[in-house]
Amino acid sequence: MSTSLEVDLAAHRYPIRIARGLLDAATDWRGALRGRHALIVSDSNVAPLYARRLQDALTHAAGEVHVTTLALPAGEAHKNLDGVAAVLDALATLGATRDACVLALGGGVVGDIAGFAAACWMRGIDYVQFPTTLLAMVDSSVGGKTGIDHPAGKNLIGAFHQPRAVMADLDTLSTLPDRELRAGIAEVVKTACIGDAGFFAWLEAHADALLARDAAVLEHAITTCCRFKAGVVARDERETGERALLNFGHTFGHALEVETGYDTLLHGEAVAIGMLQAARLSAQLGMAGADDSERLRALLLRCGLPAQPPPGVDTVALLARMQLDKKNRAGALRLILWRGIGRTEIVSDVEESAVLAVL
Ligand code: NAD
Ligand code: GLY
Repeated sequence: MSTSLEVDLAAHRYPIRIARGLLDAATDWRGALRGRHALIVSDSNVAPLYARRLQDALTHAAGEVHVTTLALPAGEAHKNLDGVAAVLDALATLGATRDACVLALGGGVVGDIAGFAAACWMRGIDYVQFPTTLLAMVDSSVGGKTGIDHPAGKNLIGAFHQPRAVMADLDTLSTLPDRELRAGIAEVVKTACIGDAGFFAWLEAHADALLARDAAVLEHAITTCCRFKAGVVARDERETGERALLNFGHTFGHALEVETGYDTLLHGEAVAIGMLQAARLSAQLGMAGADDSERLRALLLRCGLPAQPPPGVDTVALLARMQLDKKNRAGALRLILWRGIGRTEIVSDVEESAVLAVL
């Protein structure tokens, strides 16, 4: 099975391929490379598994391209300026000119760092996303948000820089640890929560198959999420409106990630907790029924995701973290809340006391 979608932006359109064996199938993505320099950016877990294959495939298909691989230290704690500097240094060593291409091979951390470095090198060079986590396949590889964390908050430094192509090789999911798979499922559930109640019901029916990595079920989930996100990004690339909905659960989740030092919760786990907090706040504000929060909680728990923050997290500190969120305007909290499953909206001026009550 193989799926081809497209992100259709005013100035640029690019393909999303979802299939098995894409890493080796250089004929499918060779055309995305314009020049003679390519840098594969991966991490210390993914590079030993897949970088050689990508490099060999490229060398075989295009012997004239100079290609090297950089393996960054794995994990969210390394999504910082050091990682970006390492990519820029590697591009300099490679002699990368403006027509060079970065191949981001890994999860969302690699994709975000590599994409941001590509946005910076010579004021912007090409990059191709090769996502290897479920989370990166359903969310982070699509849409051109690149960047890194700052001790003050998640993703505070970054740029919009669209990839030339997204190549999701489903075979790579076979080595993904179970906990990472579950974290990716959180972003799948998020897609359903935002705008597709039918997909939510489908997830309720297929949660076990998803956890068991049923190939057809995984491909359907990834395709549904990519199609949904491609549509949102095409309508609102720079997040002036609708795209903010993709952050359902994220203001709460990001605050939790920062407050717990990036090493307790995975991003998807923090988003799971955050979505439930957003759903409960919506119920508390009278926007939605508590039964929808309960359905969300049940689905998250079935998918092996946490539904409440780890013990000992300071709620006042969390609220302070939320106040530095990129969606806020004029010092007022703007949150993505819902009117029920599949019906999210942006809500401005949310009272801090109401937020504290669900934290
Ligand atoms: P990650 O990149 O840290 O990958 C998770 C872990 O799995 C890492 O240890 C990695 O080395 C390992 N791994 C990756 N692929 C593997 C494979 N196939 N086999 C074995 N191990 C593998 O985390 P993630 O969950 O992919 O991404 C989270 C990041 O994505 C966060 O920083 C988040 O902010 C970002 N994000 C960005 C966007 C966006 O639009 N740019 C959207 C959502 C999330
Ligand atoms: N993950 C949120 C976005 O891409 O806008």
